[in-house]
Amino acid sequence: MSVLRTKPIKDVLAQGDADGDDGKPGLRRRLGPVDLMGFGIGIVIGTGIFTLTGVEAKNSAGPGVVISFGIAGVVALLAALCYAELASSVPTAGSAYTYAYATMGEIVAWIIGWDLLLEFALGAAVVARGWSGYLADLFGLPSAWFAEEGSIVNLGAIGIVLLLGVVAIVGIRESARVTNVLVLVKVAICAFVVIAGLFFVKAANLTPFIPSSEPAGAGDDGIKQPVTQALFGLEPSVFGFVGVLTAAAVVFFAYTGFEAVANLGEETRKPKRDLPLGLLGTLVISTVLYIGVSLVVVGMVKYTEIDEGAPIASAFRAVGAGWAATLVSIAAVAGLTSVILVDLVAMGRIGFAIARDGLIPPSIAKVHPRWGTPYRIAAIMTVAVALLAGFLPLSALADLVSIGALCAFMLVAIAVPILRKRRPDLERPFKVPFSPVLPIVTAVACLYLSLNLSVETWVRFLIWMALGAIIYFGYGHRKNRLARREHAEDTPEPAPTP
Ligand code: ALA
Repeated sequence: MSVLRTKPIKDVLAQGDADGDDGKPGLRRRLGPVDLMGFGIGIVIGTGIFTLTGVEAKNSAGPGVVISFGIAGVVALLAALCYAELASSVPTAGSAYTYAYATMGEIVAWIIGWDLLLEFALGAAVVARGWSGYLADLFGLPSAWFAEEGSIVNLGAIGIVLLLGVVAIVGIRESARVTNVLVLVKVAICAFVVIAGLFFVKAANLTPFIPSSEPAGAGDDGIKQPVTQALFGLEPSVFGFVGVLTAAAVVFFAYTGFEAVANLGEETRKPKRDLPLGLLGTLVISTVLYIGVSLVVVGMVKYTEIDEGAPIASAFRAVGAGWAATLVSIAAVAGLTSVILVDLVAMGRIGFAIARDGLIPPSIAKVHPRWGTPYRIAAIMTVAVALLAGFLPLSALADLVSIGALCAFMLVAIAVPILRKRRPDLERPFKVPFSPVLPIVTAVACLYLSLNLSVETWVRFLIWMALGAIIYFGYGHRKNRLARREHAEDTPEPAPTP
């Protein structure tokens, strides 16, 4: 079954180490552990913490949203452990796509690569529109050109995508510098929010910590309902422990993106040591900040009174510290900008890895001799994202980012025990403890969270996958490197002419 052919690990390692095929330049090793954590936090801390905290505390979990952030953080950390093992033993630009190619076969690899392109490209486009809306609010710009809904051409979104696309193309070091500055701003402000907010926390706001469960009001049904509800006919309820779990599925979005660190395996100076540090460091810092921020928000304002749109800024306004709201806006803009940049960087690496394997035309995988980046594929995809962000109202598609991430995490978790069985000899600088139990728990937890997303999101996801299948069978299946190699081995050399 040629769709299940696997790529030998030695080829993966050789591709990452060699200076590209045929003497062409490869990616440059320029990143250290701090850069990796910068990229990780750069993409993780974005809209999630600034918006979902309020919505979920008010409607689903009460102050228990703090536990939801904790649960989602643990699931994300489990996935990061699996990534850390694979990324440190097989450092590559393709991350989950390449791990799947080496373990589960070409079609699974293509599915996951196609899925990751969706996650990162859509992530950048959705956030760019949010960024544009913020800009319009700050400077009173016309909504026809800057608003999420009702703009004909969203100039702000197009502008920020093209600008950051240029940074991503010009170099990984340049991208790291910009990201590190933005991350410093947002982390400092988040830490400040936690410390300053603690002074305004009132115990009364935190009781009951988990409000008792009650039936959900006339909620969404039909394609808007979660798959679990549609499949098992569960009666929807809010608050109580179930509410905390449902909120955990939603706030999981706030942790997505850390896996982009694994795509920098061919640009890291000491990948075996630094990739686990980058992945786990990102997750630990984000989890601590998220728990801290959500705790002060629900501690400062009674959950029933929380402002869903801007929970952190309004919490400070409510206690008479309006100036802090400005700081929060600065953190939000810095956060959104770095999310877009890291999305664009990661998207380029995935596209590069897929094109290098010939599943899409390999000529677009060329690395720029001076910049050391996959400039062709990065430029093509940046323009595509700018067009998407410029013309389509995308906020309804944000859940596709979460489903894309969860699908990748599931397959990465499954790949860990498979690779251990296939290649027990492989050097593993970092090992997931209690394998295969922890990887299996991770895969099941990710499946559970993904089933909490709506039927509509699943349908959209499957449509994207069907499109991917058409491209695979129309092109990649026959044209990729392994297929051509197999074909060459099967075709006898022509007999020499006498
Ligand atoms: N984790 C990112 C955010 O919260 C996608 O915006």
